[in-house]
Amino acid sequence: MGKPVLLSGVKPTGALHVGNYLGAIKQFVDLQNDHQMYVMLADYHALNSVQNKEEMRQLIKELVAGYVAVGLDPNKVVIFKQSDIPEHTELTWIFNTLTTMPYLMRAHAFKDAEAKNKDISVGTFDYPMLMASDILLYSPDVVPVGKDQKQHIEFARDTATKFNNTYGETFKLPKEIIPEAVAVVPGIDGQKMSKSYNNVIPLFGSDEEIDKAVMSITTDSTEKGAPLDPETDITFKLHEHFSKEQLEELRNRYIRGDIGYKESKEILATNIKKVIAPMREKYNKLLDNPGKIKKILERGAKRAHKVAHEKMKEVKNAIGVTL
Ligand code: ADP
Ligand code: TRP
Repeated sequence: MGKPVLLSGVKPTGALHVGNYLGAIKQFVDLQNDHQMYVMLADYHALNSVQNKEEMRQLIKELVAGYVAVGLDPNKVVIFKQSDIPEHTELTWIFNTLTTMPYLMRAHAFKDAEAKNKDISVGTFDYPMLMASDILLYSPDVVPVGKDQKQHIEFARDTATKFNNTYGETFKLPKEIIPEAVAVVPGIDGQKMSKSYNNVIPLFGSDEEIDKAVMSITTDSTEKGAPLDPETDITFKLHEHFSKEQLEELRNRYIRGDIGYKESKEILATNIKKVIAPMREKYNKLLDNPGKIKKILERGAKRAHKVAHEKMKEVKNAIGVTL
């Protein structure tokens, strides 16, 4: 038997942050040796919010450089962009004819978008069907994602089932992997770290940017010398990811009132910089070499297209459009 197949994706919609790293990309790196892996740049999903040519191109380059800088090996992993594989949008259409509007209206992402703005693009509304296509074309066993994406994977499974029931067994049902420990990485204000909340610690930020973000983590007004609560402190939650070796010592110091927020943040910033520095160097080097980034994507597209194309033939055959 071959290795289990894994597919995941990230939208090129902004600079990568520590939440993306811990919640998504780091897992890809950990899993690349024992999986056949497809890692996609969801640029057509990004198009719902990034509508500027130069920005889109830059974000795509940054994401590829980011993937490679954190340790994905483009020789092992198929790194590709969605827009290079026309089968993704083609299959979306077929899924659109099977899915219903009330069903898509139940999506959390849609409801959130609607709560913010009634003028939602059809692309935002149909987001789950494009994502179902991204996934199902590659018959993955597992799809690692952050907690916020769980419903989208359910939608992909439902859509596969609907198709299979209508046209005969065609799609394998994917399973999500959501590691609990990193389910939600808090941002500097304690909400989920997200570029839309402006509360991120940038993954490839300069030392100064990292210091600045960490130093502005929200704290309560406990006076110096009083005990701090490691259960509720945002800085401590980030220590759980970046200060593993010192964690028990830090916990004890918190409880004893033997550390202030400022020192705790300084330790955190130092530890984050230690993790980030080597990745950042690789990242900047690759960004300076767009030819290499292009090659990685071209090679990825070729490999991904083979698989997507075969699956699409099966689909077209199943629905009766081929004679
Ligand atoms: P953002 O919320 O900054 O827009 P995205 O929605 O582009 O981030 O997320 C890209 C990937 O990173 C997804 O798999 C998502 O679940 C994961 N992710 C993003 N923020 C976090 C977080 N704070 N904690 C854990 N995972 C996260
Ligand atoms: N919707 C995902 C996100 O916002 C990105 C994504 C698009 C994706 N297609 C995918 C993730 C397929 C996993 C599998 O993070």
